[in-house]
Amino acid sequence: MKKLVVFSGAGVSAESGIQTFRDSDGLWEQHNIEDVATPEAFAKNPALVLDFYNQRRSRIGEVQPNEGHKSLALLDSAFETTVITQNIDDLHERAGSKNILHLHGEITKARCSKNSNDIQSIGYKNIEIGQLSKSGHQLRPHIVWFGEAVPAYEDALPIISNCDILIVVGTSLNVYPAAGLIHYATKAEQKIIVDPNMNSNEIPDGFELKKGSAASVLPNLVQQLLKAN
Ligand code: OAD
Repeated sequence: MKKLVVFSGAGVSAESGIQTFRDSDGLWEQHNIEDVATPEAFAKNPALVLDFYNQRRSRIGEVQPNEGHKSLALLDSAFETTVITQNIDDLHERAGSKNILHLHGEITKARCSKNSNDIQSIGYKNIEIGQLSKSGHQLRPHIVWFGEAVPAYEDALPIISNCDILIVVGTSLNVYPAAGLIHYATKAEQKIIVDPNMNSNEIPDGFELKKGSAASVLPNLVQQLLKAN
């Protein structure tokens, strides 16, 4: 079985009704990263940070996977597929993809603010001030904040290095180290970028651009890959 990697970002969930970060209506246009997405922000104003992620979590609980997520899940039947996602939502899971690595954490989990291995599932419920982990400290979102290590990077590296086909979808490729991973796909015979706003002169060497939204491009692209396999 050929090995296929999907490397996804916020754009794959845009048509489900989740805001991206860096588009003109994106989250980082409305919030300062330094106020809500760093360990320093959590130390200074935990209520503000919890509220920011509580809003994200509750929104994610309301929306559904779109045709992009759903078509990507069909790849599991024909390829050894891994979805390496920068997204904290669970829409790839809910669409049916089986092997998913979350580089930036998962919104449906909380973890101890002192012991990063003390993780629990919370679904779409809020995390409140005073809500403690099993080890007795304040809970925080199980999210990788700016300035923190990306533990899943080490797991992602060999998977992307050995893939035969790479589909990059819905990411501005701005955030490192995640974005650097795509350059390790040196064995891939086919490398495709799906994005409605990128132009061919902006994409990395060796990639083919399929310009369009995830939900409009991925169903056809996936059918083509399944037929050609
Ligand atoms: P960005 O918001 O930086 O980029 C979103 C990309 O999706 C852009 O290239 C858009 O053109 C594209 N896009 C928009 N609508 C789309 C659609 N319908 N279909 C396909 N693509 C579409 O989001 P990311 O690259 O995911 O990290 O951002 C990376 C990281 O920055 C996030 O994981 C998050 C953020 O800060 C942390 O919070 C640690």
